[in-house]
Amino acid sequence: MFAIHLMAFYFSKLKEDQIKKVDRFLYHMRLSDETLLDIMARFQAEMQKGLGKDTNPTASVKMLPTFVRAIPDGSENGEFLSLDLGGSKFRVLKVQVSEEGKRNVQMESQFYPTPNEIIRGNGSELFDYIADCLADFMKTRGLKHKKFPLGLTFSFPCRQTKLEEGILLSWTKKFKARGVQDTDVVSCLTKAVKKHKDIDVDILTLVNDTVGTMMTCAYDDPYCEVGVIIGTGTNACYMEDMSNIDLVEGDEGRMCINTEWGAFGDDGTLEDIRTEFDRELDLGSLNPGKQLFEKMISGLYLGELVRIILLKMAKAGLLFGGKKSSALHTKGKIETRHVAAMEKYKEGLANTREILTDLGLEPSEADCIAVQHVCTIVSFRSANLCAAALAAILTRLRENKKLERLRTTVGMDGTLYKIHPQYPKRLHKVVRRLVPNCDVRFLLSESGSTKGAAMVTAVASRVQAQRKQ
Ligand code: GLC
Repeated sequence: MFAIHLMAFYFSKLKEDQIKKVDRFLYHMRLSDETLLDIMARFQAEMQKGLGKDTNPTASVKMLPTFVRAIPDGSENGEFLSLDLGGSKFRVLKVQVSEEGKRNVQMESQFYPTPNEIIRGNGSELFDYIADCLADFMKTRGLKHKKFPLGLTFSFPCRQTKLEEGILLSWTKKFKARGVQDTDVVSCLTKAVKKHKDIDVDILTLVNDTVGTMMTCAYDDPYCEVGVIIGTGTNACYMEDMSNIDLVEGDEGRMCINTEWGAFGDDGTLEDIRTEFDRELDLGSLNPGKQLFEKMISGLYLGELVRIILLKMAKAGLLFGGKKSSALHTKGKIETRHVAAMEKYKEGLANTREILTDLGLEPSEADCIAVQHVCTIVSFRSANLCAAALAAILTRLRENKKLERLRTTVGMDGTLYKIHPQYPKRLHKVVRRLVPNCDVRFLLSESGSTKGAAMVTAVASRVQAQRKQ
């Protein structure tokens, strides 16, 4: 009995010491509510800057009009195809939205690989490849007999002047295909599809994945007016009053704005928040100096941030008895799925030992506890930062509506949000603390980013049909 107590005491003392050590080392990554409220205020100012005609050209948060004005009302129907490019996986999808009243959506889809040679090669080859996958999908499912309306989910910043057009402003995340920036992505795809004489599609819409997520959730919950992605990249969209959107003519109603919040901080606004680890990660990335907010948050980067921190701690003699391995020196060796596995409630510690051993290290019990805590601090900071920006959007919505209290729904999607065991709970809690006067419902969208393009296409066809009547 005494021995058990002694062991428990020894373990909790060990844990306490490790946590203290990591907390000290990562002091700058732990953000107080005061700091989060400050970041929230900075993001509110950024949104205003992006919306203004004169200030938009120099704004880093682009606040892009999407030309999505109506959310689904349940009366949409028909068969649609959609393509989803820019998330963790490329996929082609057929969606059937059934008649009025039933709110029934059925889908079948197929994933296709996106090798680096394709996404970082020649732009025209990228679009040829996408068209080939589409043709393959239509052939194998026997869909070549008729013309389909098609929606494209394209998860990169695009300047739009209508739904069926999008000029790529810059590639983000893992993509860097040549010759596409500053061109219209819809025409690139149309041109590539035309080479296939045996398929016929009409590309009606280009939407960002955040917009797709919001639209899919809005189909089930009419209160949904925000869409957030926390996946490979991170971003959010929301419904803004037309009277506040300088870049689009007209003052009536609302339009969805794609904030492109991933670029928050690209003008230096977040320098006091960024750490030496963030700077190192940025220097080794495909787009240095760009998407600085995203690099502190999203799935493409969290694992790498952890790796950089562990290496620095090992070098300082704070981990693994000062020993490093060649894997620990190698970029990309720790991925976000590893971070998620290390933070699992029960198996977390055992997972940590296994992952570190696979990296060629020989971790002690104390090392595993410390590494687990590093993961927690990094992923918690990510959730905190998202919460601050989301709180700014919610406050803007509440003020636009001149309400004391706002009741709203946020549509959520993205791999990090979905696979990390504690991420959603942490995010929700911080948002509710930062904006106590908003009653927020978080709704996880089922395949929202892909299905959404079809939903937007369905709404566009409904509106078109209603106009003709
Ligand atoms: C990147 C893209 C953005 C997208 C987000 C999530 O931030 O620039 O358009 O919504 O990733 O996929």
